[in-house]
Amino acid sequence: MKLDEMTPAQIVQELDKYIIGQHDAKRTVAIALRNRARRKKLPEVIRDEVSPKNIIMIGPTGVGKTEIARRIAKLANTPFIKVEATKYTEVGYVGRDVESMVRDLMGTAVQMTRKEMAEQRRSQVEKQVEERLLDLLLPSDSGPKDKKGSSGSTDLTDATKDTREKFRQFLAEGRFEEREVELTVHNKPAVQGIELLAGGNIDDLENTIQSLGSIFGGRGKKRKVPIKRAREILTEEETDRSIDQEQVVEIAKELVEQMGIIFIDEIDKVAGRKGGHGGPDVSREGVQRDILPIIEGSKVSTKWGMIDTTHILFIAAGAFHISKPSDLIPELQGRFPLRVELNELTSNDFLRILQEPENAIVKQYIELMKTEEVTLDFTKESLLRVSEIAYLVNSNTENIGARRLYTIMERLLEDISFNASDMGGETVQITKSYVNERLSDILENEDLSRYIL
Ligand SMILES: Nc1ncnc2c1ncn2[C@@H]1O[C@H](COP(=O)(O)OP(=O)(O)OP(=O)(O)O)[C@@H](O)[C@H]1O
Ligand SMILES: [Mg+2]
Repeated sequence: MKLDEMTPAQIVQELDKYIIGQHDAKRTVAIALRNRARRKKLPEVIRDEVSPKNIIMIGPTGVGKTEIARRIAKLANTPFIKVEATKYTEVGYVGRDVESMVRDLMGTAVQMTRKEMAEQRRSQVEKQVEERLLDLLLPSDSGPKDKKGSSGSTDLTDATKDTREKFRQFLAEGRFEEREVELTVHNKPAVQGIELLAGGNIDDLENTIQSLGSIFGGRGKKRKVPIKRAREILTEEETDRSIDQEQVVEIAKELVEQMGIIFIDEIDKVAGRKGGHGGPDVSREGVQRDILPIIEGSKVSTKWGMIDTTHILFIAAGAFHISKPSDLIPELQGRFPLRVELNELTSNDFLRILQEPENAIVKQYIELMKTEEVTLDFTKESLLRVSEIAYLVNSNTENIGARRLYTIMERLLEDISFNASDMGGETVQITKSYVNERLSDILENEDLSRYIL
């Protein structure tokens, strides 16, 4: 189901499949998401007045803040990106400027829209590709006048027509997959990776490279490739041709401006008290100041044109164990009217997290061992004990939330993981005493648990 059609209850239900507890956070997020869908249905005059209710999720480390965002991203058919506040630096410093988050969001939306359009045009593209493959297989009958092969069959003799239909059938049956044909391949310029070097505004650089590309690689070169590869290349070419880039940009822009969501993680890391320790704090506050106009609504220039950020929804998250939301600059606080706290996880939560989510850790280990034909069988008591231990270690050393479960399970199953390849066919029962035995030494020694768990 599409996110913008889901009711808040349905969104919560979907999040429940992966995240245990944290009901308030799920509810708040669900309401904010639904409000955007509601707003979209309003008449334009009112619509522009309704601004999004941005959210700050506050909670200790490892209790599901990022996980909630990750799951929304999977649900979302609206443009969504997750960024870390710490990766930005104040304008003028080395690093990414905050406006790049809007460009990234737009990039995501463009890709999304293209993919959707390509999907709509697939059967049409498939037909065109088939004709072009036949042209490649039967170079003589298409003739020089009709390189595209779309309508050339009218002036063909019956004999060549017959051959063409035969070939069409063979092609469909997959008999030509390995046959080589000669094809002109246009190399696309590789832009990924360059971002790292550029540091700042990628767009200009990308444009430069593209124009370079049309000087050097634009004409393409002939290559011999098997039909199956030729099909991929031609499909890409025909898809590009069938999609109107301007229309893509137009739709994507509308999506971003009306329904876009930006999740800013680690927001607490840029919340520093002004004039505190000097040094990095200056830059942190600078980042907040730079973020502010984007959240308040401004126009950001991208290679697809200006993007208005007024109605983008921002969800920020942070542990806030050193700083407080009130350490954020006041203007920014005001832009996040909704605050929701995530709870510390209890030993009972741990027990559920171990087994209940669709991607639960216990399920994962069972599946992993299955590939070695080893059956893992956890008793109830053993899992209870694991969650108790996780809770205990969290209280005695550092509280890292549910992440503790990963380290403990890894330790618990270390022997089995190592030996599983020689244990095919066996069933291993994990009992409470096995858990105690494997973990007792660490439990008894706090220093040891600091290092190992
Ligand atoms: N309530 C929960 N239910 C299920 N799994 C959880 C829950 N909380 C945390 N986890 C698991 O623990 C791991 C860490 O959680 P997450 O990344 O959401 O932490 P966080 O709250 O963002 O912490 P941080 O402040 O350190 O970024 C994830 O793999 C996640 O699946
Ligand atoms: Mg996180």
